[in-house]
Amino acid sequence: MATLLLLSVLPLSVILLCISYLRTRSAHQRKLVLDALALPPSTRTFAFFHPYCNAGGGGERVLWTAIAYIQRTHPDVLCVVYTGDIMATKTSILEKVQSRFSITLSPATLHFVFLTRRILVEDSSYPHFTLIGQSLGSVGLVAEALSRFVPHAYIDTMGYAFTLPVVRLLGIPAGAYVHYPTVSPPMISRVNRPAKLVYYHAFMLLYALALRRASVIMVNSSWTKKHVDAVLAYPPQFGRWGVVRTRIVYPSCDTREMARLPLEGRERVVLSIAQFRPEKDHAAQVRALHALLEEHPEYAAEGIQLVLIGGCRNAEDEARVEGLRKLAQDLGVESRVQFVLNAPYPDMLGWLRRASVGLNTMLDEHFGINVVEFMAAGVIPIAHASGGPFEDIVVPFQGKITGYHAKTHKEFASAIHTALTLSPEEDLAIRQRARTWAVQRFSESEFEAAWEASGWSRLLA
Ligand SMILES: *[C@@H]1O[C@H](CO)[C@@H](O)[C@H](O)[C@H]1NC(C)=O
Repeated sequence: MATLLLLSVLPLSVILLCISYLRTRSAHQRKLVLDALALPPSTRTFAFFHPYCNAGGGGERVLWTAIAYIQRTHPDVLCVVYTGDIMATKTSILEKVQSRFSITLSPATLHFVFLTRRILVEDSSYPHFTLIGQSLGSVGLVAEALSRFVPHAYIDTMGYAFTLPVVRLLGIPAGAYVHYPTVSPPMISRVNRPAKLVYYHAFMLLYALALRRASVIMVNSSWTKKHVDAVLAYPPQFGRWGVVRTRIVYPSCDTREMARLPLEGRERVVLSIAQFRPEKDHAAQVRALHALLEEHPEYAAEGIQLVLIGGCRNAEDEARVEGLRKLAQDLGVESRVQFVLNAPYPDMLGWLRRASVGLNTMLDEHFGINVVEFMAAGVIPIAHASGGPFEDIVVPFQGKITGYHAKTHKEFASAIHTALTLSPEEDLAIRQRARTWAVQRFSESEFEAAWEASGWSRLLA
């Protein structure tokens, strides 16, 4: 009996001892960092878990915009970034943030903790059971992070939800900014292999438990919110325990240059900006042009053009472009379709300045930054009636439309016709409204207001 008791008490005491050791050590580590930066000992520290902070993508823009905001409005807080970019330095990272995003960060209240075990979360480390592998890997990586620095509050901004319970174990308040749910009930509703289904359900159960450890959850769009809310409601037996309200904090888009383009003097150019990937459905755009010319041959005399700008990454993309050229030929519209592959930014801006309407034909696109860019540039958007463009972007502003929606190529054709036959006043009004809405909705200040309203600072209290 005594042995049994000892056996059960022993591991618990070991854990408690470890935690108390970590806490003492962490105070010392923090002091060293604060001293090195000449910050007062009372400085609160807020840590971001972002192992790929130097990647320069959309997720990184969110990270740096948030940090710049905190630096500006809460100068008494030290932001800490856990990163695995061990080849980079603080200076090189700050320079890249400046050149890539035009975001200026202050080195005075920013500290990087470099992690050497990022391999633990790389997909290539787990050819099988990637979900579980990466999740357990993230636990290992956050353990390294905490062994190097224990902050007053923590936020995961890269979707490593399994780090949350670990952080909470040390009594640190935690939050999450979710760009994309790792898995969610709507996502697995299509899985039909029993073994796989069991795996996904088991994983989702753990994911739900982990996410419930966050006391602040931000999501980047309505789509993500829907999916994260579904995870938090899973399984129903758990009830509301640990469930917090998720808040949408839209990432900001850099629309500064586009918003300077003149609204008037547009040509009969129908523009598409999308990588030549299958889901973008460029074929629907070519078919829409064909349908438009069938109905309204007068556009040919007006010199209408469909311009498809897009990144072409590999042989598959090139083959798709060839297929599209062939389709245009078969439909007899090849002289009106122009492909612009891998265009440099200034060329794209040039097309945005000339175009009248912009197409987005992808079904269920989660967001659609190209649609925001159309609107900011004064190009009337015609977007697929689904996903982010439908729910978040091309929505009424001040009670009036900011663009059009369509599903079939025929509907796209008739929407193009509608947009091209607006009266000059209506035409200008809709371009202006779309621009005002897009620039304001996806602006930095809107992001900051939403970030503040999420209650992140409660984590530090
Ligand atoms: C949210 O993040 C996902 C994953 O990075 C991305 O595909 C989507 O476009 C993002 N949404 C917004 C509104 O930026």
